[in-house]
Amino acid sequence: MEKSAPNVPAWKTSSGSQRSNKPSKVEHIESSTEKRILTGDQELDRVLGGGLVTGSVTLIGGEPGIGKSTLMLQLALNIQNKRILYISGEESEQQIKMRAERITLTPKADCYILTETSTQNIFKQIEQLEPHIVIVDSIQTLHSAHIESTPGSVSQVRECTAELLRFAKETDTPVFLIGHITKDGAIAGPKILEHMVDTVLQFEGDRHHIYRILRSIKNRFGAAAEMGIYAMNSSGLREVTNPSEILLSQRDEELSGIAISATLEGARPMLIETQALVSIAAYGTPQRSATGFDTRRMNMLLAVLEKRCGFRLSTRDVFLNLAGGIKVEDPAIDLAILAAIISSHEDISISSKTCFAAEVGLSGEIRAVNRIEQRISEADKLGFDRIFVSKYNLKGLSQEKYKIEIMGVGKIEDVFSALFG
Ligand code: TYD
Ligand code: MG
Repeated sequence: MEKSAPNVPAWKTSSGSQRSNKPSKVEHIESSTEKRILTGDQELDRVLGGGLVTGSVTLIGGEPGIGKSTLMLQLALNIQNKRILYISGEESEQQIKMRAERITLTPKADCYILTETSTQNIFKQIEQLEPHIVIVDSIQTLHSAHIESTPGSVSQVRECTAELLRFAKETDTPVFLIGHITKDGAIAGPKILEHMVDTVLQFEGDRHHIYRILRSIKNRFGAAAEMGIYAMNSSGLREVTNPSEILLSQRDEELSGIAISATLEGARPMLIETQALVSIAAYGTPQRSATGFDTRRMNMLLAVLEKRCGFRLSTRDVFLNLAGGIKVEDPAIDLAILAAIISSHEDISISSKTCFAAEVGLSGEIRAVNRIEQRISEADKLGFDRIFVSKYNLKGLSQEKYKIEIMGVGKIEDVFSALFG
């Protein structure tokens, strides 16, 4: 291992050496609110918990081609009055320039591009440029001279991240790391990477759709499970500030198999259209498939329907789809999914002014969900005239505040008879 000279900053030495701290009594530690930089991208700022924290390291994962480089370059060009260093080990200066020309006319920031993969060389450049923000595209392309293995290997990824982490903390410079994702959706490289950094964001979506979702999976400086929505168009990523509008399809006539759910992603309420198709299984074994929703959960809901409402779904194909290529984990979507399935099965449409927000339990009970008032007021604001919620959510709810009719239900059977009589 190399010996470090005493005046070399700690982040330039290998992971072996650490600065030693003395213990401090808790009441003697000065409290501080972390300093935040607004990136000018409202979606990103919200996902980060209210802007970028100085000295923080943020990992952005996502499948190839989803738009990670575009998102980061857009940030690098649009943030006001900052010097940004965008380090690319993947693309040439010309390729990055071409992308920059697509996404912006006049950069607002001082944006520098460096195509380099050796961390030692990168730190040399950083020392000269003294950037306010550093972006690394991608962490898997970097290598450190302190480690003798190939770029992208577990030990290289860990060492390079450790060096950048020390740099970020000692100089208070925020660092973004772009990370590749493996087939099964995990960030390539050691799992420890996610533990090392402060914030992990995931950029996801269906490449055939224009919408992209930025989700926080871990955030030391804000709520996890926050999310931002973008639309990828010919000139880069556009922020989608009113997601409900895009997640509800425009339709003139009422169709069976569609139900709308008032869900919450992070702190943001969204109305999402769920579509179901129930048809006679043509080839023996019925098919079950769900896009944007957990298939196991769908099977559970189907079993509940079978048991409680006597539907013979075991001989039916069931397909489920959420609009916009979005993925939802909020359990409050259960009731809309059930309603969509019943609607398709009975071939009776549900009014497009009706929406749902409740979880469904194994015995068919309709369960209360969190932050019901936020869901109701979003539906109210968007002009819905009826929302089905659990009757257990009605306690302490001042219904007269809203124009929307609030239907409290306790069992699936109640929902069924209210909808289809
Ligand atoms: P990119 O940022 O290169 O993805 P990643 O870094 O995650 O691999 O984006 C790739 C896709 O985005 C590519 O298929 C082209 C498309 N794109 C647009 O549609 N519009 C644009 O303005 C840009 C820059 C890219
Ligand atoms: Mg890229």
